[in-house]
Amino acid sequence: MTNTLFQQATDIIRQNDRGHYTVPTHGLYPFQWNWDSCLAAMGIAYIDEVRAWQEIETLFAHQWQDGMVPHIIFHEQDDGYFPGPEIWNTGRETPTTGITQPAVAGFAIRRLFERAVNQDLAQQKATELITKVAHWHEWFYQYRDPEDTGLVAILHPWESGRDNSVDWDEAFANVPTQGVKPYTRRDTKHADPAHRPTQAQYDRYIWLVQHFLSLQWDNEKLHDESPFQMVDPGFNAILIRSCSDLAALAEKLGMEQLAKRQRELAKQGLQAMNNLWSDKHQQYLCLDRHTNQLVDSASSGGLLPIFADINPQHAAIIADRIQTLSQQCRYLLPSHDPADSRFDSKRYWRGPSWLIINYMVADGLEQHGFDEMAKQIKQQSLELIKTHGFAEYYDPLSGESCGGDSFTWTAAMVLEFL
Ligand code: DGY
Repeated sequence: MTNTLFQQATDIIRQNDRGHYTVPTHGLYPFQWNWDSCLAAMGIAYIDEVRAWQEIETLFAHQWQDGMVPHIIFHEQDDGYFPGPEIWNTGRETPTTGITQPAVAGFAIRRLFERAVNQDLAQQKATELITKVAHWHEWFYQYRDPEDTGLVAILHPWESGRDNSVDWDEAFANVPTQGVKPYTRRDTKHADPAHRPTQAQYDRYIWLVQHFLSLQWDNEKLHDESPFQMVDPGFNAILIRSCSDLAALAEKLGMEQLAKRQRELAKQGLQAMNNLWSDKHQQYLCLDRHTNQLVDSASSGGLLPIFADINPQHAAIIADRIQTLSQQCRYLLPSHDPADSRFDSKRYWRGPSWLIINYMVADGLEQHGFDEMAKQIKQQSLELIKTHGFAEYYDPLSGESCGGDSFTWTAAMVLEFL
């Protein structure tokens, strides 16, 4: 059985391979997505290490001059996706979007490096990539933390990767929809509309894109002029973990200065993360930078900080909280608290379980010494795949597969779990 799963996972990764990058899935997501690619690279490494490094190299070949690494690279024309390059209009030779995504690259390249069979190749590729990843991290703190709080803000829900999380509902009341040019969604042609964000949310996604375009994608302006500025604990935790991992990698490569700076960034972030803790919810919450209030929404974004080196008391409470969640649903880890009336078991990030989150949370649980809980998450993840296939995400109550199918990062995470 294990071999069969391994084979199925590698087949999916090969099917979605476009030569120098991998699409998340055929149809729904026909380009290169930032964090999909970095997580996919870890799975690709089991098949072909050269190709795994290339996946991340391709992404960083499209890094902006200021250090930003875009969330989508539109390598080819494909009318099956909206909003395509003409809507973003960022003026790049190979079109890209103008927003970013969770900074998982630092974590991924350390893993690739440490597991590499081909050590010479790993040494060469890691040395080439490390300064680019460090530049991206600096970009985050320069442009998304202008007041030096230690934590960065996202300006569009798509940056978090958790597009329609309950976390954004209140803040979305301040994002207008007037002036949104007429458009046709394509996502609902590829996936069940009941599994996808609503039209009202899409209008706001597009308004923000149009607004940033009107500012000419100038990162000097975007942060202050965005009506949506959210400090997401999960997003920050991934960045902090990547800073620490980059520091560890830099030490191995003899790059002392770079290591020191990345350690500093991680330390400041970890300290500031304490301000996002909620005793009421027993987890971290998002902070709306416009209201300076924590958002009353217990999502998986507030559990993800266990992926970083958070303080041991908070880590233990999060482990307990995951234990409680495991009694409320069949398959960990629901993206929203099932006890909350806003929980929706099938709608994208308002309830469903995602294997990439399971992977990062399980890794964090292990780092903090909660091996049993980590094991339970891994077992349930593999059970989901065996019974419901390699979907984009899953109903945490029934296990039903949702969204797109033959999904690259789901396959990559299965290879990791196996
Ligand atoms: C989409 O189009 O659904 C994506 O999540 C944007 O990154």
